[in-house]
Amino acid sequence: MSSALALLLPPVVSPPPKFLSLRLNRLSLFHSSPSLSPTYIWRATSRRFFPAAKAQSISIMASENVGTLKQQLAKLFDESLRATIPEELDVEPLIAACNPKFGDYQCNNAMSLWTKVKGKGSEFKGPQAIGQALSKNLPASEMIESCGIAGPGFVNVVLSRQWIAESIQKMLIDGIGTWAPKLLVKRAVIDFSSPNIAKEMHVGHLRSTIIGDTLARMLEFSNVEVRRRNHVGDWGTQFGMLIEHLFDKFPNGEVASDQAIGDLEAFYKASKQRFDSDSGFKERAQKAVVSLQGGVDKYRKAWTQICEISRRGYEKVYQRLGVYLEEKGESFYNPYIPSVLELLSQKGLIEESEGARVIFIEGKNIPLIVVKKDGGYNYASTDLAALWYRLNEEKAEWIIYVTDVGQREHFEMVFTAAKLAGWLPAEDNKYPKTSHVGFGLVLGEDGKRFRTRSTEVVRLVDLLDEAKSRCKAVLIERGKSEEWTADELEQTAEAVGYGAIKYADLKNNRLTNYTFSFDQMLNDKGNTAVYLLYAHARICSIIRKSGKDLEELKKTGTIELNHQDERALGLHLLQFAEVVEEACTNLLPNVLCEYLYNLSENYTKFYSTCTVVGSKEETSRLLLCEATAVVMRKCFHLLGITPVYKI
Ligand code: ARG
Repeated sequence: MSSALALLLPPVVSPPPKFLSLRLNRLSLFHSSPSLSPTYIWRATSRRFFPAAKAQSISIMASENVGTLKQQLAKLFDESLRATIPEELDVEPLIAACNPKFGDYQCNNAMSLWTKVKGKGSEFKGPQAIGQALSKNLPASEMIESCGIAGPGFVNVVLSRQWIAESIQKMLIDGIGTWAPKLLVKRAVIDFSSPNIAKEMHVGHLRSTIIGDTLARMLEFSNVEVRRRNHVGDWGTQFGMLIEHLFDKFPNGEVASDQAIGDLEAFYKASKQRFDSDSGFKERAQKAVVSLQGGVDKYRKAWTQICEISRRGYEKVYQRLGVYLEEKGESFYNPYIPSVLELLSQKGLIEESEGARVIFIEGKNIPLIVVKKDGGYNYASTDLAALWYRLNEEKAEWIIYVTDVGQREHFEMVFTAAKLAGWLPAEDNKYPKTSHVGFGLVLGEDGKRFRTRSTEVVRLVDLLDEAKSRCKAVLIERGKSEEWTADELEQTAEAVGYGAIKYADLKNNRLTNYTFSFDQMLNDKGNTAVYLLYAHARICSIIRKSGKDLEELKKTGTIELNHQDERALGLHLLQFAEVVEEACTNLLPNVLCEYLYNLSENYTKFYSTCTVVGSKEETSRLLLCEATAVVMRKCFHLLGITPVYKI
């Protein structure tokens, strides 16, 4: 190991075998200091862990193309900040994309620095002078073409076209995985979908499934180990009535097939109706709960059967949506509840109130009930046990819950209880942490809660069927049934139909209610999956029609971004990583949708002004087409949408 590298080691940490792999190493070191901002990993380490050897650490990192574009710029400005105002050690570079009139990115530190140094005998006469110095002190870098100072010291940066082009070309060769953002967390649990046994999955669960899957995909792409958790409602007093009703319908015990129970929703309703109207049945149902919880074989078996039938129902939906989940239902956590409540009791958090055991949370009118009056556990006690398990047994650092906004209050109380118990740090920006990803209602075109005429609850499978068959009809109308094989027709109709449902949901800010409209989502113009999938297919067709071997071009050709529309497209491509990072950090899939839509718009602009096939820039432009298609496909993948290659 060189002496420069030796200097980089913090005194107490012994070097892992491959210390030269700074990327990994930085991550793991950073990891041990969970209070730091997730955005500027490099800086935190260079400042906090290696203050004495900063210069070396930067120069070594500079040759490594790591981090998002923004982070790479921040790294340069950090060095400049140190050189410009060495006494202000804890100032972070503030970098943002800027109005294209002025440049590509902007460093916005000068004003706040000026307020810090003003009147303290500083050599600077104002923020503009600080801006100028920040620009002058930037280390030499291939990234930057020029810098300009505007207003009160904003440093506007124009990136080098060549650097943008080279970065894209490198990605084409090394793969889009090299553009994955680096996040702070190593392991996350995402609790999503989570329908209730014996009840039909409804559109709310569809939203949770789609949003949760996308979040999981984005975090997985960013190299986070994700536990995709289906917290199904498979426990509770409702099972008493379901089991008794099952016994009455099948006195011999055996339920031969799924159809025997028929529509589970109807089964649930029938048993509920009996429970509410027949006191004898109610009594039996209540006893059944005791027998089930006591582990009586016959009851356990009936419960397993009901769960199994439900599970097969929603497994079908998951399969069609291409969503993978690991089930750990409420019942799983039941055995943990007593000891978890004991832990909370020991901390003095649990009190008696009106016969129940509760946790009072400051600022909330009603307490969190953890043991009901009748001594039974509930949704909250299960969630506390699940949270404890996820933190302590699964060692998750980020636990994300995807449900409708109606459950926000519940989660706020659970999270606060965990903070009071010392399971979670009090500050929201520290790890381990929990996040509730809330979403709005699904509305029908009449602006009311989404329902169909025939059924109260919209069946998810029906929605998927309809989206697919509408897409298929359009494809047939366009003559594709003659051009394509039956399989191709099916697969395309599915990809476009299911993709349309997902995208229509994801493109909105999740907190707003969203209106479910087949006509809108299946429109081939505007911000829809149909439009985007077609745009991608068109790029693929341009590449195919060129007759060029792209693998060969990647190695022998060069990308040049001389036209302004080529440059704009190139820059947009390069911003992919920071967009994914933002979408992950703020848990907002719509940020990625917006990026994808703008990418398609940038491409259209480029394609309308720049001839590709047959031009003298053909090689470069084909590579740019390919890079656009690669990034689009990755966006589709992250959104759970299957790309199509021809239309
Ligand atoms: N089963 C619940 C429902 O349908 C959602 C569960 C969400 N996850 C949780 N850990 N509480 O509303």
